[in-house]
Amino acid sequence: MSGLLKFITCGSVDDGKSTLIGHMLYDAKLLFADQEHALELDSRVGSREGKLDYSLLLDGLMAEREQGITIDVAYRYFTTEKRSFIVADTPGHEEYTRNMAVGASFADLAVILVDASQGILIQTRRHARICALMGIRHFVFAVNKMDLVHYSQKEFKKIEKEIKKLAIDLDLHQIYVIPVSATEGDNLTIPSSHMPWYTGATLLDTLETVNVEEGMKETGFVMPVQRVCRPNHTFRGFQGQIESGKIEVGEELTVLPSGERAVVDGVFVTDRKETHAQRGQAVTLSLNREIDVSRGCVFVKDTELIVSHMFTASLLWMDDTELMEGKNFFLKIGTKLIPASVMEMKYSIDIHTGEHIAASRLYKNEMGVCDIVTAEEIVYDSFEKRRGMGSFILIDRVTNMTSACGVIEHSLRRAENLTWQKMDITREIRAGKLGQKPVTLWFTGLSGAGKSALANEVEKRLNVSGRYTMLLDGDNIRMGLNKNLGFEQEDRIENIRRIAEVAKLMNDAGLIVLTSFISPFRSDRENARNIIGEENYIEIYVSTPLEECEKRDVKGLYQKAREGKIPNFTGITSPYEEPEHARIVVDTSMQSLEDSVETIMKSLTEEGIIGIH
Ligand code: ADX
Repeated sequence: MSGLLKFITCGSVDDGKSTLIGHMLYDAKLLFADQEHALELDSRVGSREGKLDYSLLLDGLMAEREQGITIDVAYRYFTTEKRSFIVADTPGHEEYTRNMAVGASFADLAVILVDASQGILIQTRRHARICALMGIRHFVFAVNKMDLVHYSQKEFKKIEKEIKKLAIDLDLHQIYVIPVSATEGDNLTIPSSHMPWYTGATLLDTLETVNVEEGMKETGFVMPVQRVCRPNHTFRGFQGQIESGKIEVGEELTVLPSGERAVVDGVFVTDRKETHAQRGQAVTLSLNREIDVSRGCVFVKDTELIVSHMFTASLLWMDDTELMEGKNFFLKIGTKLIPASVMEMKYSIDIHTGEHIAASRLYKNEMGVCDIVTAEEIVYDSFEKRRGMGSFILIDRVTNMTSACGVIEHSLRRAENLTWQKMDITREIRAGKLGQKPVTLWFTGLSGAGKSALANEVEKRLNVSGRYTMLLDGDNIRMGLNKNLGFEQEDRIENIRRIAEVAKLMNDAGLIVLTSFISPFRSDRENARNIIGEENYIEIYVSTPLEECEKRDVKGLYQKAREGKIPNFTGITSPYEEPEHARIVVDTSMQSLEDSVETIMKSLTEEGIIGIH
């Protein structure tokens, strides 16, 4: 078997992952002389009392050496006569699940270490399940430390049986179970003389011969567009890596999501003009006619992908804060980055038993299934059918950290059966009749900061100058449209989502909307900005400090909150995340209500926000 094998090694701390690969490379004579020398010197201070400590070879990171554990994903490259390899060495600790998932998403095969003296541990199941979730289909279970169990066939058979059961539970595609000793070198590159009862292949043999392409169901040509390249006005090329299949000059392809068709009139690999290109190659394609193509579009031929904005997905949640319904993210799938939110949590999955547990939240390192909606239609496939088009990550909109990785189970039919109805009377026509530019003035700030009073005054001023307006106010809306919502985080998320949708509809009707809600969470305000549209959303931060709001305590709520009578009270027992880029900021403790209104009106006029168009 030729070709590159990308694999990941997983094991609990002290299972000997680094030693296993290090020793295999050493035995296969894949070390350079100076590395060998360094290894000998280092080993004098290593953890094997002067004997070679093979793990030092793999421990790329200083911190890791100091602590004696692996803390990040270290990628290693090596080549034997038969094959080239990239190995991701990932951490065993539960808190480093994120790195493991990242490593797994790139690999075709996982080498999972099992300590022969301990058997299958919770961690082993966890690692196997994460690898399976990330789409790994081929598993090598290296039953390590066979020397500690006196190379006992009986012990090995016992563990092998457990592994086979695990493979059935997790529906693993192909497994190999090999008894090894990473420190002593048994069955790494040459068959062990200590275990004549084992007649299977050594670890290196297995890695060199395993066929990871087998069983792949991907058909047809697929290429997600990564970049549109226009070196001059005569040439327009579309760059990306071919996900599957091949393409030739003269063939017709379809661009998704639009469904437009065009014929390929140029195939370029680096700067060479070719007649065709295939899976795995990074190419530039040019087309015979001008069509609308941007990053995130996908070229296809002889295959179908799904175009929709709702799907059910399995997730591995990796963030410190928990996942709950309504949370907003950036979703990255293929080359596309798009706002998305988790609509409905279906259940969490017990990592040990695979059992489905009713859950409305996912906590760090848990796996679960949920429905996701994206801001616009995207192109994807179920993960089962096409790994590259069915896996995604969720990125926190504020911290930019990867919060989850996931795979798409299936699209949601209700999304497929909906079509946006085009209306002849547009927002522009309605707004034109009213002679104004419909925007949403989004007031945010603590309870008692002065939002409602300010919004009320600003609305009056707008009316006096002939504008058509609508004011949506927290308490009032909570007595009607949102009377079924409380102040738990999920409810606040939904509160703000509904308000944003209503504000958008009213903007569509041509009205200038003023909203007055605490809207304490940055990601929710970002979601509102998204729903309403960047250019129509004007954030006004009423920054009156907590002490002042509490001193005023118009509704007596702060006192009640301090007495513990109101749970989740913003500023007291629930956070308020200050806006970072508000268009207008006013502090009613620094200026009078009239002056604050003046400041707002002046900014709105100066920036042309409420000018007549
Ligand atoms: S938001 O956080 O979801 O944006 P919203 O603006 O709708 O809140 O409602 C805030 C109003 O509800 C406050 O002005 C206050 O009168 C009332 N209220 C009742 N309980 C709470 C609470 N736990 N936290 C904040 N406001 C509360």
